[in-house]
Amino acid sequence: MTDHLLTLIAHDPSPNTQRMVTAVMEGAQNSAISGVTVRHLRPLEAGADAVLESSAIILGTTENLGYMSGALKDFFDRSYYSLLDETDALPYATLIRAGKDGTGTRRAIESICGGLRWRAVQSPLICQGDWDEQFIEQCRELGMAMAAGLEAGIF
Ligand SMILES: Cc1cc2nc3c(=O)[nH]c(=O)nc-3n(C[C@H](O)[C@H](O)[C@H](O)COP(=O)(O)O)c2cc1C
Repeated sequence: MTDHLLTLIAHDPSPNTQRMVTAVMEGAQNSAISGVTVRHLRPLEAGADAVLESSAIILGTTENLGYMSGALKDFFDRSYYSLLDETDALPYATLIRAGKDGTGTRRAIESICGGLRWRAVQSPLICQGDWDEQFIEQCRELGMAMAAGLEAGIF
């Protein structure tokens, strides 16, 4: 029986970021984990309801011009006040693909999620610099850790 819904809200504009999303999904759907349903929504398709239905969230974005993608920012702009006071302590994790840096995006997401009083349950994963195949395994591990945490009830 499914008890938990894990939602990945991720902007994936490039082949590499699409592979990262796939890897997160694969990790979260590891056959050793049961009772967790996983879905990927693009930020422009997601709203407050998607969060209110979820037991945990993974936020994924590229860093563009020192900040999160406009698509993820738009998701927060549309949903922030519907989520405020309704999602306290929601477990979340962050995944950032940054060609150079990533810190501006991490800070911005932490600021918004801090305002919502969400609870970061993993260190932010910043896949930074030139493409590295290790990013795929790191994404898989992130997905698996989130699903396993929900299954175990430790979040
Ligand atoms: C308009 C634009 C602005 C960008 N700004 C940043 C930035 O401020 N910091 C950064 O680390 N990477 C930046 N990048 C690089 C993107 O983060 C990177 O291209 C994206 O994550 C996709 O990675 P990929 O080439 O591996 O698919 C920028 C890319 C574009 C197209």
